[in-house]
Amino acid sequence: MAEKPPARRLSRPRPPRQPKQSPDDHAAALELLREGELEVEGRLIVASNATLYCTIRRGSTESACVYKPIAGERPLWDFPHGTLAGREVAAYAVSRAAGWDLVPPTVYRDGPFGPGMCQLWIESDANVDLVALSRRSDHQMLRDMAVFDAVVNNADRKIGHLLPVSAERLYGCDHGVCFGEEYKLRTVLWQWRGRKLPARSIEALVRLRGELASGPLAGELPQRLTASEVRATRQRVELLLEERVHPYPPEDWPAVPWPPY
Ligand SMILES: Nc1ncnc2c1ncn2[C@@H]1O[C@H](COP(=O)(O)OP(=O)(O)O)[C@@H](O)[C@H]1O
Ligand SMILES: [Mg+2]
Repeated sequence: MAEKPPARRLSRPRPPRQPKQSPDDHAAALELLREGELEVEGRLIVASNATLYCTIRRGSTESACVYKPIAGERPLWDFPHGTLAGREVAAYAVSRAAGWDLVPPTVYRDGPFGPGMCQLWIESDANVDLVALSRRSDHQMLRDMAVFDAVVNNADRKIGHLLPVSAERLYGCDHGVCFGEEYKLRTVLWQWRGRKLPARSIEALVRLRGELASGPLAGELPQRLTASEVRATRQRVELLLEERVHPYPPEDWPAVPWPPY
């Protein structure tokens, strides 16, 4: 019987793969998003524009992220100026400057399909019932989100745009149709309408007013929005600080997104 040839090694053994680390804080996440190498994994089919699910790597750090190239944006009659990507980055900057931290770290950068926005992927807690969450009126961060949406004039706060990471901590995504000059708030979060703004919201709005006047935000927003959109944002902050209540739904505009999910 012929002897079995010895098994041949076709390649040299690979060193064990070092597990990559997630960015450990906000600054590290921003650096990874700005400087990392972007690899497109696939397209999110639930999305209406080219919303790409990617991996971003730099050195030993790696994360999942969303990349929305401007080239994949569909034109919108009611947002004729600017880009969805620019408004997403502006929404992140507003949330950060006010101290809300409701928008995952988001940057404007170049990518395999040209410039666009790149946002850290948030692993949602699948145990949180999103419909029940969206109806809660005792959730502090959700209430912050309602105030944030009023400031950025969010025309598309759907239930599926809520990203809970625990029972009480959440993020929001999809801020491409914010910052319209006319009042166009369209959201599933109307449970506080007409109610007095809590003290923490007033503090955040005062902080934001200062940042819009002279902080880094005052320099950044004009790069992402038109001059009149920036002015309208300042006016919405002023109005909220004057009225000190959660806004009521607009009368001449559908107040809830359809479908709400
Ligand atoms: N940063 C993110 N982290 C986790 N999930 C996200 C993130 N961004 C988007 N998603 C998920 O992908 C879906 C589609 O993204 P979205 O931003 O809504 O795209 P589009 O602008 O095309 O509607 C969202 O509803 C959400 O479930
Ligand atoms: Mg969406």
